[in-house]
Amino acid sequence: MMEAVILHGGQGTRLRPLTHTGPKQLIRVAGKPVSQWVLEQVVEAGITDVVLVLGDNNPTRVVEYYGDGSKFGARIRYVYQGKARGLADAVYRVRKLVSDQFLVYLGDNVVPYDLRRLFPLRGAASILLARVPNPGRFGVVVVRDGKVVRLVEKPKEPVSDLALVGVYGFTSEVFEVVQSLRPSWRGELEITDAIQGLVDRGREVEFQVVDGWWKDTGTPEDVLEANSFLLDRHATRSVLGEVRNSTVEGRVVVEQGAVVENSTIRGPSFVGRGTTVRNSFVGPFTSIGEDCVVEGSEVEHSVILDQVTLRGVSLMDSLVGTRAVVERGAKRQRLVIGENSRVWM
Ligand code: TTP
Repeated sequence: MMEAVILHGGQGTRLRPLTHTGPKQLIRVAGKPVSQWVLEQVVEAGITDVVLVLGDNNPTRVVEYYGDGSKFGARIRYVYQGKARGLADAVYRVRKLVSDQFLVYLGDNVVPYDLRRLFPLRGAASILLARVPNPGRFGVVVVRDGKVVRLVEKPKEPVSDLALVGVYGFTSEVFEVVQSLRPSWRGELEITDAIQGLVDRGREVEFQVVDGWWKDTGTPEDVLEANSFLLDRHATRSVLGEVRNSTVEGRVVVEQGAVVENSTIRGPSFVGRGTTVRNSFVGPFTSIGEDCVVEGSEVEHSVILDQVTLRGVSLMDSLVGTRAVVERGAKRQRLVIGENSRVWM
């Protein structure tokens, strides 16, 4: 019996203002919250015992969405981390709920990889790595003679281009190491320090290198990229909503209760239930959430969350948060927008 731990904490500052109303792991891409893609991947790998670690940003949203997990073919339990004190702190909080070997997956990451390949662990931990062009933004791993010898969080010098992607296999030994960790300069208990602690104890840390696409959806650009990838990989044509006098081309999902009128939708794209698209052009690589109104607009390569109104606008590479209204006005633009928003006009 093995558990999967999916982290739902963190501050999500780089995704403000979207993260003012809920955790970034619940941002829907290609029709589902990012962490639901993770959960489905975990269940597909045969792990149905799941622990979600909650942060302090509207954690009840996560519980409301996933419940006891039965809708997703899993048994879900919850642990409250609250304030983001680091990945190692988040992991430490599940110590009473997991067996000797368990999986940890960052709930805002998408790593298409057969998770079964990580287990059973031979050493004390097993990590997934990927070569990156910008190692300074990641936790990186120095490998010598096929062995993990050193981990560095956001290295200033180029010590390695092998970055940790957010998937880890641990044995319960990690809890002993975390107990003796000190917070880093940024005040967090670092997972890289925890894994380094295992190495320092002379324990083997296995690694595998992911060679395909993967994403940490920390920024708006990352969210758009994950949306495109997941639509491209998973969208299959399913037009259940009402389509009148429109062209729906390719792999397009139009959910039940959606209405498409006098419009063109080009796949891969997703239109959520209760949404009306009228006199518009949508897609490709576009996800529109539930209960939106899109009128007289063009939307391409974008993620539009729920209850959004778009009228008379032409959007591309855009991320629009829940209940936002974007309308074409008179000559001058009029704005009511939140902290850290970005507008290109
Ligand atoms: P990050 O993206 O590194 O951190 P963050 O969520 O605080 O984002 P930002 O830098 O924009 O403020 O976190 C990686 C993942 O781990 C993410 O899914 C959130 C989760 N996490 C926790 O669950 N608990 C924690 O204490 C931290 C730091 C992160």
